[in-house]
Amino acid sequence: MTKLSLSKAQELLLNGNVVAIPTETVYGLAGWIFSEEGLRKIFSTKERPFFDPLIVHIDTIEKAKKLTSDWTVIHDTLAKACWPGPLTLIAKKADVIHPLITSGLDSVGLRCPNHPLTLELLSKMEGGLAAPSANKFGKTSPTSAEHVIQEFADTVEVLEGGACEVGIESTVAGVELINDQWKVLIFRPGFFSAQKLQQILNDAGLEVGVSYAESPVAPGQLKHHYMPNIPLVIIPENKNWSEVKDSIESKLNQTFLRPAIWKLPTDPILAARELYQKLRDFSEHGHDLILIYRNSSENSEEWKGIWNRLEKAKTLELTDKSTWLE
Ligand code: TXA
Ligand code: MG
Repeated sequence: MTKLSLSKAQELLLNGNVVAIPTETVYGLAGWIFSEEGLRKIFSTKERPFFDPLIVHIDTIEKAKKLTSDWTVIHDTLAKACWPGPLTLIAKKADVIHPLITSGLDSVGLRCPNHPLTLELLSKMEGGLAAPSANKFGKTSPTSAEHVIQEFADTVEVLEGGACEVGIESTVAGVELINDQWKVLIFRPGFFSAQKLQQILNDAGLEVGVSYAESPVAPGQLKHHYMPNIPLVIIPENKNWSEVKDSIESKLNQTFLRPAIWKLPTDPILAARELYQKLRDFSEHGHDLILIYRNSSENSEEWKGIWNRLEKAKTLELTDKSTWLE
C-alpha cells in the first residue's frame, strides 16, 4: 500500500471518508465533524453502537471553545496545562456539533492530541475530527499503524505515524457543578491522574476538587471492552499455572495448552505503552490463554488507567479467596 499523504488524508476526510490517524495514546478512526457521511462511516466501520459518544480532536483551544457553549476557567486551565496531550475534556456542546457525535447528549468530549502529523492535519481542517480508537467495537485498541491494518485490512487508509508513546486512551474528565461546588470528575482513568489535575487546579488558585466517578454515559464503560482474541485471566501474584490450571479450565470449559504469563513492567509508563501490543502478541504467537498477576504494589494512582483496561479486557479474575470475578 502506498503511504498516505497529509493532503490526501484531508481530501478523503472532506469527502466523507474515514482515515486512521496517529495520536500519542492510540490510533483513532477519524471522520470530519461536518460530514454526516464520515461520522456514519465511523460507526459502521467499527461496528460501534450509536449510544457511545465520540471524542472531537482539535489542534487549538480556540477551536475547542467554538465547539462548546460553556468553556469554563476550569476547562481553560486544564487545557492550557495538558494540551496537546492525553486529556479529554467534556463541556456543554455548541449547536454546530452533530448529535451523532454526542449520542444525543448535550455535552461533547474534546481533546488536542500530541502528535505532530495529526496536529498538522487538524490545523488544515475547519472544526475538528471525531475519532474513537481504530478497532472493532469492544476489541483491543491499536497502538501502531500495523494494528489498524490487521483490523481493517485495506478498507481504511492509515496515516502512518509510528508507535503510540502513551499506549492507553486519554483520561476523560468532566466539569460539573454539584451542590454549588465546581468539581472535576474523571470518567476514564489515563495518563493524567486525579492528583495531577488537582495540582494543576491548585497551582492556578482554583478551589475545585478532582475525583473519580462512574460515567453518566460510557467512556469504554461497558463491562467488557479492549478484549484480546484469546481469554485473559487475572490471578493472584502468589499462584503459578499448575495451581490455577484445573480451576480455569473448568470455569472456561476449555483445555489450554499454551498459556502465557505476562509480568507487567515495574514502571507504569512502560506498562501502559506495551499493554495493547502485548495482548496482541500473545495470541499471534500461538498462545491460547493470557495470565496476568494481580500485584498489590500496583494499587497506586499511576496504575489506575492500566488496571481499568485490564479489568475490562479480562475474561475472568481469580481472587485470593479463590472466588471468580467476571
Ligand atoms: O485517547 C483517546 O481518547 C483515543 C484517541 C483516538 O484520541 N480515543 C478514544 O475514543 O479512546 P473512544 O471512542 O474509544 O473513547 C471515548 C470515550 C467513549 O467511551 C465515550 O463514552 C467518552 O469518551 N465520551 C465521549 N463523549 C462524551 C461525553 N459527552 N460525555 C461523557 N463521556 C464521553
Ligand atoms: Mg475505544
